[in-house]
Amino acid sequence: MSELPKKPFLYVIVCASGIAGDVGKLITAAHDRRWDVGVIATPQGLGFIDAEAVETQTGYPIRSAWRSPGDPRPLPPPDAIAVAPATFNTINKWAAGISDTLALGTLCEAYGLGVPTAVLPYVNAAMAAHPAYSRSLEQLREMGVLIGSYRPHPPKAEGGADQFRWEEALDLLAPAISPQH
Ligand SMILES: Cc1cc2nc3c(=O)[nH]c(=O)nc-3n(C[C@H](O)[C@H](O)[C@H](O)COP(=O)(O)O)c2cc1C
Repeated sequence: MSELPKKPFLYVIVCASGIAGDVGKLITAAHDRRWDVGVIATPQGLGFIDAEAVETQTGYPIRSAWRSPGDPRPLPPPDAIAVAPATFNTINKWAAGISDTLALGTLCEAYGLGVPTAVLPYVNAAMAAHPAYSRSLEQLREMGVLIGSYRPHPPKAEGGADQFRWEEALDLLAPAISPQH
């Protein structure tokens, strides 16, 4: 009896951005490309998503906090990671090596583990003008992180949700890892 090949596992890390509620679009696109998906939200990000809908869609519990010692791991290890949407806060902390959320700990460790990682920042231009932001993106690029093409939108405006291409994370990761078909 031939077994179906195991699908690669994608972690989607969701930050506290106004567009986080649309993360289901990335999950759908990933499923279409034959990834299994688990979601890790930042503690603030949890408030921006419909956790029940995401868990129903992925079939896995959303993670946000560290498990207790001795508890089983709720998600399989990742073959790749997509950070979408990525906030100013999480981008700067990740680049600086700060690990005070499960999302950040996962990202900081992914570098050493060599897990292919893509980030889709969603930040307004006033925040992006802070010198730390370009330094952080440069640091992440040097670490081999694949960075999305979304350009910061004007502050105090509607934002640019219609310009945000969720599936770009999968396009960026595709050369780094090819899901088996
Ligand atoms: C309604 C709302 C929308 C927000 N959208 C964004 C956003 O799109 N990008 C961003 O960098 N910060 C945004 N913020 C600010 C972040 O939520 C805040 O910096 C938070 O601390 C980020 O936490 P995290 O990086 O751990 O997810 C928003 C805040 C609110 C209240």
